[in-house]
Amino acid sequence: MTDWSQRRGRVRRAPENFIAPELVDEINAKGVDDERRRFLRNSFVAASAGLLAGSAARAEAVDPADGDPAILNLPEHSKTLGKPVLTNPYGMPSRHESALQRRESPGLTRVAASSVSFTPLQGLFGIITPSGLHFERHHQGWHDIDPEKHRLMINGLVSRPKVYTMDDLMRLPSVSRMHFIECGANSAMEWGNVAVPSVQYTHGMLSCSEFTGVPLSVLLDECGIDLAQAKFVLAEGSDGSSMTRTIPITRALDDVLVAWGMNGEMLRPENGYPLRLVVPGVQGVSWVKWLRRIEVGDQPWASKDESIHYIDLMPDGLHRQYTSIQECKSVITTPSGGQVLLDKGFYNITGLAWSGRGKVSRVDVSVDGGRNWRTARLEGPLLNKCLTRFNIDWVWDGKPALLQSRAIDETGYVQPKQNELRAVRGTRSIYHNNAIQSWLVAESGEVSNVQVE
Ligand code: MTE
Repeated sequence: MTDWSQRRGRVRRAPENFIAPELVDEINAKGVDDERRRFLRNSFVAASAGLLAGSAARAEAVDPADGDPAILNLPEHSKTLGKPVLTNPYGMPSRHESALQRRESPGLTRVAASSVSFTPLQGLFGIITPSGLHFERHHQGWHDIDPEKHRLMINGLVSRPKVYTMDDLMRLPSVSRMHFIECGANSAMEWGNVAVPSVQYTHGMLSCSEFTGVPLSVLLDECGIDLAQAKFVLAEGSDGSSMTRTIPITRALDDVLVAWGMNGEMLRPENGYPLRLVVPGVQGVSWVKWLRRIEVGDQPWASKDESIHYIDLMPDGLHRQYTSIQECKSVITTPSGGQVLLDKGFYNITGLAWSGRGKVSRVDVSVDGGRNWRTARLEGPLLNKCLTRFNIDWVWDGKPALLQSRAIDETGYVQPKQNELRAVRGTRSIYHNNAIQSWLVAESGEVSNVQVE
């Protein structure tokens, strides 16, 4: 009998770019109806089939009896002079990796300046998101602001209101910390039913970077905050969206940063250059980009993005406001939707876990839809309000399997099953969906997004 655990399984990538540009335009113009949903599904299936044919052809090309031509024939790059230094003064990924990109989910939004691009989680390693793949969410488009002209004002309940230039800020003692940022609307499409095919779209409003900046507490202290009266701060962005967010003073004085650095360089313009707020553990909307003002006050402002957006529609029809913490969540990134397992045998199941309340303390993985769980290895570093990479061995026997991950954080909170979350929150919410994700591995090896009780 074959010992499958000795055989190395191969994963075929999910199709990265499976929707024809015309279909994207059509969906963007007219929205998603049943017909266009069917087109989307078929495009994904067709792109998967194309990849399958490609990998079969590649497998056939190598006949072990004749030796591998990739070894026997000396390639051009071993015989010629390579390109000089500074061919790319700012380095770019290999052209062979060009399919790995942030992508928009067709039909989700109608105007690209008020939209979202998703991080391709399926193609990343470790916990840091390359800056060029950090997801984007803009309410009114992005700008590349001149840092010389950018200002940050601090006013309200302070004895010394101030206006800072970027130079003023960057002279202050800075700290660097690694944190995840997740949009409160991540996994929003999945509240009612399965909606999108791959982990890029189910979970890709999630990124993780090292941020550098000055603690907001240092600035508030310098401005003479009135601690007896101050209860909240308002953060205001300088783009056209009038993005303003209320943050409780205890949080503002805790680990919030006024940041200019991301992954060792200045923030990218799309991510708030030259200044953004970093509010660890809190939904992305509070991480105000192009930050221009902090006001200290004694009550919440209930601004438009706090009263009609980023709120939870509960089953009784009431709205819940200010539920800002991103609760503990995890997702398997390989195998995940759209990928194909090409052989029975050994696989490494890998994924990401995170919690807005602190560190992830454990991740369990099930391959039978939650009946049995095994504890995965957490790879270091294990940091506060940061992504955690997990891995676990698995031997696929070729039978259908239902893969799930369940994260537990240091407060003891356990990531809920879909039906547990729905029992409390209903199905009409948009925000704060941290339910367990299920991927079905079919006998054919194809992996798809499914929902189970
Ligand atoms: N800040 C401003 N000024 N304008 C915006 O549109 N979008 C918010 C937040 N900060 C936004 C903003 C939302 S909804 C999210 S999820 C995060 O920025 C996204 O940050 P990113 O684009 O760097 O991923």
